[in-house]
Amino acid sequence: MSIEKLLQKNIDESKQGEILQLSENKKASRKMYIESYGCQMNFSDSEIVASILDKEGFSTTKNITEADLVFVNTCSIREKAELTVRKRLEFYNSIKRDKNPSMLVGVLGCMAERLKEKFLEEEKLVDIVVGPDSYRDLPNLIAQVEDGRKAVNVFLSLEETYADINPVRLGGNGVTAFVSITRGCDNMCTFCVVPYTRGRERSRNPESILKECQDLFNDGYREITLLGQNVDSYLWYGGGAKKDFKKVSADAKENSLNFANLLDKVAQVNPKLRVRFSTSNPQDMRVEVIDTMSKYINICDHIHLPVQSGSSRILKLMNRGYDREEYFKLVDDIKERIPNCAISMDMIIGFCSETEEDHKKTLSLMDYVTYDFGYMFKYSVRPNTPAARMEDDVKEDVKQRRLSEIIKKQQDHSLLHMQEKLGKTFEVLIEGDSKKSDQHFYGRTTHNSAVIFEKGNHKLGEYVMVKIDDCTSATLKGKVI
Ligand code: 5AD
Ligand code: SF4
Repeated sequence: MSIEKLLQKNIDESKQGEILQLSENKKASRKMYIESYGCQMNFSDSEIVASILDKEGFSTTKNITEADLVFVNTCSIREKAELTVRKRLEFYNSIKRDKNPSMLVGVLGCMAERLKEKFLEEEKLVDIVVGPDSYRDLPNLIAQVEDGRKAVNVFLSLEETYADINPVRLGGNGVTAFVSITRGCDNMCTFCVVPYTRGRERSRNPESILKECQDLFNDGYREITLLGQNVDSYLWYGGGAKKDFKKVSADAKENSLNFANLLDKVAQVNPKLRVRFSTSNPQDMRVEVIDTMSKYINICDHIHLPVQSGSSRILKLMNRGYDREEYFKLVDDIKERIPNCAISMDMIIGFCSETEEDHKKTLSLMDYVTYDFGYMFKYSVRPNTPAARMEDDVKEDVKQRRLSEIIKKQQDHSLLHMQEKLGKTFEVLIEGDSKKSDQHFYGRTTHNSAVIFEKGNHKLGEYVMVKIDDCTSATLKGKVI
């Protein structure tokens, strides 16, 4: 394939990931190209990487052929994510071969640990491999590889939270931002690779979180999302891994801060700063958090509450730490305290040994909760996880059929939720232009519903009241009143 065709192919394929671009750094002498895949946490990490390398004189570029350094920030959560990254690496190498031989190629993030030998030593696809806790080491690693040595750091830390690093806000809208509050995960769901790729759970210093939120507000941001693999498990006792909390002094325990306490403080940064959070693991979510949500109008009425299955038998095999009834109880508590609170989910379809009866339980759980929206995935085996030792015995065509049934039900429920909003008026934060028309703005309600409306004289970052007059299962349309 010609290089021109390859470049066009790159533009098409990279739309799946997100290319981030730094503001022009006049001092910069070298250029970095960075693409991110996976969860919001990964996108947020790319902003930390950009900040670390900005200090080393790297600006970013969207044009891969002029890059001195190309990074792909990788995800391992499902097999498909890994395949995508491999394809991208092969592409970067073709550019390196044909256009830019001095370019360095690096793999960051969740695939680093598992594929370091394969990519670096066997296939020689990359020059640098860096895991999610080692980004501070990037300047050394780059120098190392320029010196002709291999550059790998996949060390997982019990302390690193990048608390002091001011992320460079890349590719954003200047209105909404992510603020990371915990790293790693201790929950050990049997299907999940995260504990192995991102290590043990640790929480970030609350002062640095509050400062980041205040700085964002001062810079014009109007919404922050507190991020973590399991935000409800947030626990600050002076630093260190959550697993070591039991060893600390009575005094440190007494002065510790949980997620509800943190949320309360963040909500007070400014009443005009909306607060969201993601992700909540049902086994760790406490009523105290729901009560804090109901106390502050600027904490949005939406909870992302991944359930993964509606069958208690499957939930046990997944080691989720709750059963169907406990999940229902949590949903009842939410609905009782915050009527109309939007609830969304993640669901895994076709986990090991899932029967038709288990599948029906998932469908009936969806009928009970009626989620506002959801992300639904076919189970894919992740090497070295506990579930990898179970039999992945649900046939592909059965997984596909069950997935289609679940998606269909979710679309019906999403449409119902949107239709309920017709004729009502909601406060909407303006986040940007509508994708389809530059005469229209895009914003979201407290329930995280997307709203499209005519721009008028309004501006980005403003709150407006919008009366809803039309909808699809994914979007509301209305007029500013
Ligand atoms: N297979 C399919 N889906 C998975 N998820 C996590 N691990 C797997 C896996 N092995 C899904 C879960 C999780 C979301 C981020 O990805 O639903 O909540
Ligand atoms: Fe993917 Fe999980 Fe890593 Fe996020 S934490 S990038 S979802 S493997």
